[in-house]
Amino acid sequence: MAQDYSIGLDIGSFSIKAVVLSHKTKPASLVSFGSIAAPQPGISSENPFDLEGEAKAIKTLLTSIKAPDLPVVLALPESKIFTRVINDLPFLSDEELSSSIHYSAEEFVPLPADQVNLYWQVINRSKPQNNTSVFVVASPKNTVNKYLQVLDYVKLKPQALETELIAATRALVGNNPYAPTTLIVQLGSHSTDFAVVSKGLILLTRSIGTGGMALTRAISQYLNFEPVQAEEYKKVYGLLEDQLGGKIYEVLKPLIDMILSEAQRVIQAFQSKNVQNPIKRIVLSGGGAKLPGLVIYFANTLGLEIQEADPWYFIGKDKALASKLVDSAQYTIAVGLALREE
Ligand SMILES: Nc1ncnc2c1ncn2[C@@H]1O[C@H](COP(=O)(O)OP(=O)(O)OP(=O)(O)O)[C@@H](O)[C@H]1O
Ligand SMILES: [Mg+2]
Repeated sequence: MAQDYSIGLDIGSFSIKAVVLSHKTKPASLVSFGSIAAPQPGISSENPFDLEGEAKAIKTLLTSIKAPDLPVVLALPESKIFTRVINDLPFLSDEELSSSIHYSAEEFVPLPADQVNLYWQVINRSKPQNNTSVFVVASPKNTVNKYLQVLDYVKLKPQALETELIAATRALVGNNPYAPTTLIVQLGSHSTDFAVVSKGLILLTRSIGTGGMALTRAISQYLNFEPVQAEEYKKVYGLLEDQLGGKIYEVLKPLIDMILSEAQRVIQAFQSKNVQNPIKRIVLSGGGAKLPGLVIYFANTLGLEIQEADPWYFIGKDKALASKLVDSAQYTIAVGLALREE
C-alpha cells in the first residue's frame, strides 16, 4: 500500500458509511468509522441540489470521524451496473481477451459501448484446458460521473471506484484459498445483492429490488404505522413468530421468502454448473442482516451454515475501538473498500 491510510466510503440509500484503516500495521488496523443517515432522495436524484445535499452529508460524516484528507475508495451499487461471468472462452492472450470481452459485453449490456466503462478480473486461464473465465463489470459512464460529481461538490477525490460485491467479498472472504465456497447475501435498503465466491473470486452475482425499505413499508401499510414506528417494530420484532401475536412476522414473511427464493435460484444456478464445488455457507451482510430471527429462518429453510457478517474479522483493532463495534454488518462494504490494495 502506497499510503499509510485508506478511506472506504459506502454511499448507501439508507445511510452513508465510512471506515478509515491504517496500513502501517499488518493486517491493516481500524482507525475510525461511522455512519450518517442518507438525505432523501439523495444519491438517487438527478437534481444538483439533492446531490449537493448528499455531498454535504458525506463531508459531515468524514469530519465527524476525523478522516484524513485523502482520496476515498467508493463503490457503485450492483443495481446500477452490469456484471457477467464469461467462461466459455478458449485460452487467450491479454489482447485477445480484451477484444473478446468488448465483443461479449454487447450481449449483456443494454447500452451503447461508448457509454460504459468495462473492467474485468480473470478467474481462470489455462492453456492445457484451452479455457479462460473472466468476471466482467460494465459501469454506465453517467452513473460514474454522478458519483464523481457528488465527491467534487465537497472537493473529495476518488482513489478508486469498484462494485459493492467486490468490496463485500474482500471484507468477508478475502483471498483465503481455503475459505469454503460462500454465498454472500448483502441486504441493503433498496436492494438485496447476491455473490457466489470461491477461493476469493466472484463466480456469480445477482441483484433484486427488495430490501429493508420494502419490509418497513409493508409494516407501515398493513399495520397502519408511521414509517418511523414501522422501522422500529421491524428492528425489534423482525421474524420472531412468537412476538406481538406473530403480526410482524406475517407481514414480513412473504418478502423474506422472495429474498430466500432468489438465494435458492442463485444456489441452483451456480450448483448446476459447478457440481464439484458446492456452496458450503451463506453470509448475511448489510443493515438488513440484523433482522431478528433472520439467521435462523434462513438456516431452517436452506439447511446450510448461515453466519451474520463480521467485516472486522480481518482487521486489527485495539480494545477501546473493539468495544464500540456494534451493528457491524452494515459496514461490510466500507471495510472492503478501505481494504483495497492499490
Ligand atoms: N436491527 C435491524 N433489523 C432489521 N433491519 C435493520 C436493522 N438495522 C438496520 N436495518 C435495515 O437495514 C437497511 C439499511 O442497511 P444498509 O445500511 O446496508 O443499507 P444501505 O447501504 O443504506 O442501502 P442500499 O445498499 O440498498 O443503498 C435499512 O432498511 C434498515 O431498516
Ligand atoms: Mg448498501
